[in-house]
Amino acid sequence: MPRVKEILDTMDYGPAPEANSAITQWLKTHEAGLGQFINGAFTKVGSETFDVMNPATEAKLARVSQGTPADVDQAVKAARKAFPAWAKLDGHTRATHLYAIARLIQKRERFLAVLETMDNGKPIRESRDIDVPLVARHFYHHAGWAELIADEFPDYQPVGVCGQIIPWNFPLLMLAWKIAPALAAGNTVVLKPAEYTPLTALAFAEICHEAGLPPGVVNIVTGDGRTGQALVEHPDVDKIAFTGSTEVGRLIRKATAGSGKKLSLELGGKSPFIVHEDADLDAAVEGVVDAIWFNQGQVCCAGSRLLVQEGIAEKFLGKLRRRMETLRVGDPLDKSVDMGPVVDPVQLKRIREIVAKGQDEGGTLLQASCPLPEKGYYFPPSLFTDVDTASTVMDVEIFGPVAAVMTFRTPEEAAALANHTRYGLAATIWSENINLVLDTAARMKAGVVWVNSTNLFDAAAGFGGYRESGFGREGGREGMFEYLVPTWEAELPKTSEKKAAALNIAPAKSIDLKGLPSIDRTAKLYVGGKQARPDSGYSYSVLNAKGQAIGQAGLGNRKDIRNAVEAAGKASGWSSATAHNRAQVLYYIGENLNARANEFAARLEAMGQSAKVARAEVEASLRRIFWYAAQADKYDGRVHSTKTREVTLAMNEPFGIMGLLCADECPLLGFVSLVMPAIAMGNRVVAVPSPAHPFAATDLYQVFDTSDLPDGVVNIVTGDRDELAKTLADHEDVAALWYFGGMEGSAAVEKASAGNLKPTWVSNGKARNWLDASQGQGGEYLRRATQVKNIWIPYGE
Ligand code: NAI
Repeated sequence: MPRVKEILDTMDYGPAPEANSAITQWLKTHEAGLGQFINGAFTKVGSETFDVMNPATEAKLARVSQGTPADVDQAVKAARKAFPAWAKLDGHTRATHLYAIARLIQKRERFLAVLETMDNGKPIRESRDIDVPLVARHFYHHAGWAELIADEFPDYQPVGVCGQIIPWNFPLLMLAWKIAPALAAGNTVVLKPAEYTPLTALAFAEICHEAGLPPGVVNIVTGDGRTGQALVEHPDVDKIAFTGSTEVGRLIRKATAGSGKKLSLELGGKSPFIVHEDADLDAAVEGVVDAIWFNQGQVCCAGSRLLVQEGIAEKFLGKLRRRMETLRVGDPLDKSVDMGPVVDPVQLKRIREIVAKGQDEGGTLLQASCPLPEKGYYFPPSLFTDVDTASTVMDVEIFGPVAAVMTFRTPEEAAALANHTRYGLAATIWSENINLVLDTAARMKAGVVWVNSTNLFDAAAGFGGYRESGFGREGGREGMFEYLVPTWEAELPKTSEKKAAALNIAPAKSIDLKGLPSIDRTAKLYVGGKQARPDSGYSYSVLNAKGQAIGQAGLGNRKDIRNAVEAAGKASGWSSATAHNRAQVLYYIGENLNARANEFAARLEAMGQSAKVARAEVEASLRRIFWYAAQADKYDGRVHSTKTREVTLAMNEPFGIMGLLCADECPLLGFVSLVMPAIAMGNRVVAVPSPAHPFAATDLYQVFDTSDLPDGVVNIVTGDRDELAKTLADHEDVAALWYFGGMEGSAAVEKASAGNLKPTWVSNGKARNWLDASQGQGGEYLRRATQVKNIWIPYGE
């Protein structure tokens, strides 16, 4: 008879499979195939269909319709028809609908978790304990926003019909992240689930029906990328929300450029996982398990780049290797399994290819020796060592259970390595030293930072990326703004486009003065705190309302923009200055402008404005400067209520360098209205003033020079707005861009911004009334001048 100790030593888990009979039954009722969910009912199965497979068994689960452009059109029409009544509902009534959905999700928790696991392959432990509870939480949270909409978002209205495209890694959770805020804000939606994992979305459609949601408010169209493309290109869609690969995100940015569609993108990542030498190593090892082997590593914010301090690297890797050996890979319906199969053979092939490349490049591959089931798309937990920053496995998003490890010596090096990526979705930091943790968190260029924990999510905290991980946030207050627009925006008139051709370009040194009123000045550019001649050597004549030349302005070009961006780059101290310091400078600018108010008004008059309007514009500019000075230390972050014993800090951070293209209407106030919020929040800017009336801005050089504004914080390049906008949009170091000009320029800016996926804010050829503070000033400017970083800090022993 074996002794107790021997039994303990040899003890293994027995299988503990979750029952799936309810799912088998549900699938049986849909054996003939599933159609689209449009206008509150399922359509007939389409002429083109595809099979949905169980990645653990390779067995077919269901047959689903490939959505055609006609299906998409029908769904958009249904959403459009349902929109006015849904948008008009009072917040409380919309909230009751969302509560009803949340409750039904909770009632079906087990069903949805098992279906998700069979469709996607994620372990039931995860779908049951993480995905589905977070789905219910998201609907409850957003039922709350619906309830509070009139109080919390006055002067905002829903965007309209939203097209939403989601990936396969968290099928139901991504659906919740998209649909809950859209509905809470009063929008109607057409959602396209990923082709590998459409089943929980279709089960959700049944829940909408059962919950009595009005027909057309939620429409689900299944299909592959072609269906997604039809949705993106549909002219009657007002907003696109996308989660998926950076590659497709870029395509969508280009496809929607100039369409006026609002856009949010949640894209890929290659997130750092930093282990400092004073970290609790056992906890950090568990962290790695959650960071890269959770959901088979198919997580956009997976901690896939392990950065371990040199002194503890050997010890840490020893522990990690031992832990790898205890991971259980197998049937995801088994409750004691840690890792299931990846979603599809296509993804498995992709992972294998990248891993092979990593080995070819000299990386050492360590893999858990656990047995893998014979059937199913399994890949073992894996770890690369002997890699460097140039290695493919350190650089590309593998989207599989593969981490790569590098070491670092100092915290500075750790931060530099962590930020050595074009992405910026998340970062994880392990250390017992609060000072070190917060210092590292502040340095991270990422939308989410987890301290001594990883992959935590909650509906109250916004989620989304910096840099090429996309823009926009999902969850929390920030997420709601993605589905709202100011009420007055739809009524804006078109701007009168002054095209580049209208600029009277002449070589600077040979101006024909004959017959013209006296030209009293030639304005230069303003770069790095100094007046600079334009690189082209050309200027253009600036005319007044009567068509008479009143002076010359420099014709800036690509080189001038590059110089200005470089100067802004050198002024990085501004971004770390205290908000109080920034406010002081803004107040000083206001004071100095005030001292010269009459002079500025007279100059605006000379440009062709009436005395009354000129005076009003100067006065409004002064107020605006003071308003943003006041906001500099008040538009601050929040502490979100997420989990117990957790402080989730939502910090507003500047982008860094912003490009600002200013409107022709109210040339001084329009300039002030863009520059002041941007610099108040700590950005450095390259501003292009109104090409028709550049002097209103160039006259400010002297004001800036006497106001303690550090060199390079505001750089001004005059010239052709659209040409300079394109250069700024192309520039990799410009992190965000605002464009207030014509329709064509707006489209060009959006298209060019696809390069580094910088967030853009364009006017689409609409003219704001800058004199009206509700249009020309306010929270929207501050919000668009900042990006939110959520830092999750647990407390307690
Ligand atoms: P994908 O970006 O192609 O798919 C995501 C969604 O976009 C799916 O619903 C798909 O049907 C749709 N789609 C594809 N092409 C489209 C188009 N032209 N217009 C509109 N919608 C389109 O991602 P895929 O091919 O499934 O995975 C490839 C790689 O992308 C993965 O290996 C991973 O690296 C990355 N990825 C990242 C995700 C993230 O959350 N960051 C999620 C999924 C994939």
